Amino acid sequence: MNPISKLPIPLLEWYRDNARTLPWRTLPTPYRVWVSEIMLQQTRVTAVLSYFDRFMAAFPTPAALAAAPEDQLLKLWEGLGYYSRARNLQKAARQVITDFGGQFPDTYLELRSLAGIGEYTAAAIASIAYGEALPAVDGNLLRVTARITGDDGDITTPAMKKKVTALLTEIIPIKAPGAFNQAMMDLGALICLPNGAPLCDSCPAASFCLAHQKGLETVLPVRSPKKARRIEERNVFFFFYQGKVALRRRPQKGLLAGLWEPPCEHSADARTQLEAWGISLGQPSFAGVSRHIFTHVEWHMEAYVLEVSSSHLPPEWIWADRDAVRHQYAIPAAYAGFSDILEQYLAH
Ligand code: ADE
Repeated sequence: MNPISKLPIPLLEWYRDNARTLPWRTLPTPYRVWVSEIMLQQTRVTAVLSYFDRFMAAFPTPAALAAAPEDQLLKLWEGLGYYSRARNLQKAARQVITDFGGQFPDTYLELRSLAGIGEYTAAAIASIAYGEALPAVDGNLLRVTARITGDDGDITTPAMKKKVTALLTEIIPIKAPGAFNQAMMDLGALICLPNGAPLCDSCPAASFCLAHQKGLETVLPVRSPKKARRIEERNVFFFFYQGKVALRRRPQKGLLAGLWEPPCEHSADARTQLEAWGISLGQPSFAGVSRHIFTHVEWHMEAYVLEVSSSHLPPEWIWADRDAVRHQYAIPAAYAGFSDILEQYLAH
């Protein structure tokens, strides 16, 4: 008998006593569950909490989200990363209005037709909000299952995902699929830890977990190594004019699409870059370095500050004052390491 079949009862008992209290659990409407699941993709619960409540206050319904101005939407997402998630949320909210008459779809298959909703997210929403008995197989469920079953398959492969999905489909309790999935997520986040030694002494599966029995807790799961990230050396220019900073909008496609930033380019000579922009007055002063790690690329940045004597800017750049930087324009966290520069130069 596969040891995973012993899991549901002790897991649900453990969850009853140890579930994290989370706002989308306290009031699990389909809309709230959906927004939470999108925010939680690649993102820790603790990072999501404050964003979730602000987002719900700003956009309490799919209709409100569908009608949101892009800058407001991105500002509410500022710092969460993977901004295409926010755009897809809005796209899907518009689909809910146009394709489903404003009524949030209530089956796995219909959910899959919405922008940004893949297998995992559709299963999570369908199980948590509608009680559909589908496992929501994310990294947590893959890790927990690989350990309990002692499976040394590579959890980054589609074959392993398929295998785990099939196993969990067999055992997911039809009366409590949402609790089962979220119990697995909490077990993965609190006990069956991804990095370092898992807390097997507190685990409801310890007595039948094959990885634990064989002392393989830190060997399993097997995952193929990630590709090395590309490193980009970049110059970031902070232009100030009368206490305002120059920002430009990033292109609508690609990394950080549509967000605002201080002009930032691959490192050429800083001087040459300024001339290319037609800003040749004055001497930029070096203002520090910072790094930011994205999924596939790392930015190694040098910042330069230049106080200019004319408000002239290249087309489509804007001057933003302190209030606009704080409340209006979404500036990616990649630049957070330079916030002291804004603090110093923006007029109060
Ligand atoms: N991660 C993804 N979805 C989650 C949920 N519903 N609860 C806790 N962690 C999660």
